[in-house]
Amino acid sequence: MEAMTREALLAALRLQIDWGADEALEEAALDRTVARTPAPATPARQAPALVLPTRAVVGAPPAVTRAAALAAQADNLPALREAMAAFDGSPLRETATNLVFADGVPESGLMLIGEAPGGDEDRLGRPFVGVSGQLLDRMLASIGLRREESFYITNILPFRPPGNRTPTDAEISLFLPFVLRHIALARPRHLVLLGGVAAKSLLRSKEGITRLRGRWHEVTKNDGQSLPALATLHPAYLLRNPAAKRDAWVDLLLLQRSLSRQ
Ligand code: URA
Repeated sequence: MEAMTREALLAALRLQIDWGADEALEEAALDRTVARTPAPATPARQAPALVLPTRAVVGAPPAVTRAAALAAQADNLPALREAMAAFDGSPLRETATNLVFADGVPESGLMLIGEAPGGDEDRLGRPFVGVSGQLLDRMLASIGLRREESFYITNILPFRPPGNRTPTDAEISLFLPFVLRHIALARPRHLVLLGGVAAKSLLRSKEGITRLRGRWHEVTKNDGQSLPALATLHPAYLLRNPAAKRDAWVDLLLLQRSLSRQ
């Protein structure tokens, strides 16, 4: 590693404190800027997925079929946003203040997917703008990623569940066709799945996030192609469990390493 200036060392120390580190866990310093798990090869950029409902939708409730048809008709991101705003198949639309579509730069090649908007996001119509979003922004900034230029971010649900409750399986299935279309239209080269809801629904896994995190998986798109997806802890979980920030840091280094290879 290059010799760091005093200012850079102080900034790194401030970040540790921001992240809640309050004691040294090992005698010798460990260079955590060196990721130890090999990253997957980066697939070539693909054309948007075929305009077809997903196989999962066959035999699904009528609202899911309608969601899939609407999603499939959207040819670009503004059209998808409009389709989601017009979709009346979920009662969440009635209790939410705003549709929360996405934020950041769709062309960046990196797409992050969280769970569902909270109160601040619902009020402002933008994802991850509350305290957990601010923590996430600081974490990503520590590996040089900024929302204004380096990533795109959305959620599995575009509407806030009342009282910030966890989304039900039915709500996740209902909005999944929109999420898959969103991925197809944004054409990221890497996905980051924030928390158990995003990881389990896109990886179609029953495993919890503590088992899924820390490694690259593959998300299968509607066109049958797959995309590397890193599962990691949700920033709201990190706020409640500061000791887990250490695992999140390991995950961020995996991401940084993959991005630096493209
Ligand atoms: N938590 C999420 O999963 N998404 C947001 O947009 C805000 C908090």
